[in-house]
Amino acid sequence: MLGNFSYCNPTKLYFGNDSLNYLGTELQKYGKNVVLIYGGGSIKKNGIYDEVVSILKDNDKNIAEISGVMPNPTTNKLYEGIDIARRHNADLLLAVGGGSVCDYAKAVSVSVNCSDDPWEKYYIRFEEPDCTIVPVGCVLTMVGTGSEMNAGSVITNPLTKQKIGHVFADKSIMPRFSILNPNYTLSLPHYQMVAGIYDIFNHICEQYFSGEDDCTSDYISEGLMRSVIHSSRIANKDPQNYEARSNLMWAATWALNTLVSRGKSTDWMIHMIGQSVGAYTNATHGMTLAAVSLPYYRHILPYGLAKFKRFAVNVWNIDPEGKSDKETAEAGLEAMASWMRELGLVMNTSELGVTDDMIEGIADGSIILPGGYKVLEHDEIVKILKESMYE
Ligand code: NZQ
Ligand code: ZN
Repeated sequence: MLGNFSYCNPTKLYFGNDSLNYLGTELQKYGKNVVLIYGGGSIKKNGIYDEVVSILKDNDKNIAEISGVMPNPTTNKLYEGIDIARRHNADLLLAVGGGSVCDYAKAVSVSVNCSDDPWEKYYIRFEEPDCTIVPVGCVLTMVGTGSEMNAGSVITNPLTKQKIGHVFADKSIMPRFSILNPNYTLSLPHYQMVAGIYDIFNHICEQYFSGEDDCTSDYISEGLMRSVIHSSRIANKDPQNYEARSNLMWAATWALNTLVSRGKSTDWMIHMIGQSVGAYTNATHGMTLAAVSLPYYRHILPYGLAKFKRFAVNVWNIDPEGKSDKETAEAGLEAMASWMRELGLVMNTSELGVTDDMIEGIADGSIILPGGYKVLEHDEIVKILKESMYE
């Protein structure tokens, strides 16, 4: 642990089957005007909407709604939500859904009392809010992003074909509370479940594949990765298995609540390329990551060989005996690839709608970050993207 850092995570979590019982306790801390934010209707089908609304009414809240928050929420939807929250004089934004709904609520939160254009201010200039923010609470229904306990918010601008995430430095943008009931995730379609599982796994990888010092965060990451692999195999065969789904939910939160990035420079290039693929295709986030991962990791393996070998041995149980470091490291990636195929992840970007004419634009839209084992050049991103079409 050679780095300097601070650590603070103010989100209060309620976990388990009974966790919604604590929504009333939390609601008492805020004023009367609540904006309930949700997606395309899954919470109405599985009954979560009725449960939440009844608790809001029992607590005498005035409810306004922002419904129809789409996966990969857009700038236009953001402007619509800001208007609703302003007119309702919101005291609390209650996000009930997955990462998209929770990210969106944070974007509304920092924009309600802001006179600047939020896309330009927060997603292009990466400024911090200088206005009063509206608190966000979350009832999570989809596992993967970690948005329930972090300050990240990803918004897509379809006009400019940019999908950009801002991880706010201001911790008060993190949800004040999040309710994590694994039962709520049982109605997820298989496609979303496995996309979320890969999102969790890749969040850990993005932080693990950086640095060369002996770092406690890496040992925590290895434990989390082993837990995700184990539970994912059970959930893939038996999606209604509460134990596996609850472990996945808890691992997802710890994968991206800033803990395992402490002391690390962190990579995040798969997310940068994956998000740009998402901006062009509107594909499911976790699948965009799965589709670009192998070409990316094969490309950077020589620059981070020692870490890739450690990953193979400690996460995938590869026996290094009689193998060169490179062979061990490559066997680790192959084990990861075969686990990804077993889950049924999308392994190439053409299946997500990427065509040759998009490659240059996707590469241009991939923000280059310096924390991983190799700072990529534009041409390397083009090469990785081309390979990702035919994995
Ligand atoms: O809209 P509804 O009808 O609710 O359906 C959703 C949506 O279609 C459905 N769903 C959610 N819970 C369900 C359910 N269906 C049945 N039963 C349930 N219990 O699942 C679909 C996907 O939901 P979404 O919220 O889009 O998924 P996810 O949680 O993967 O969020 C993706 C967004 O989060 C961003 C991504 O870029 C993307 O925009 N990310 C946010 C991060 C953060 N805040 O730190 C980090 C991530 O890397 C990621 O970039
Ligand atoms: Zn992600």
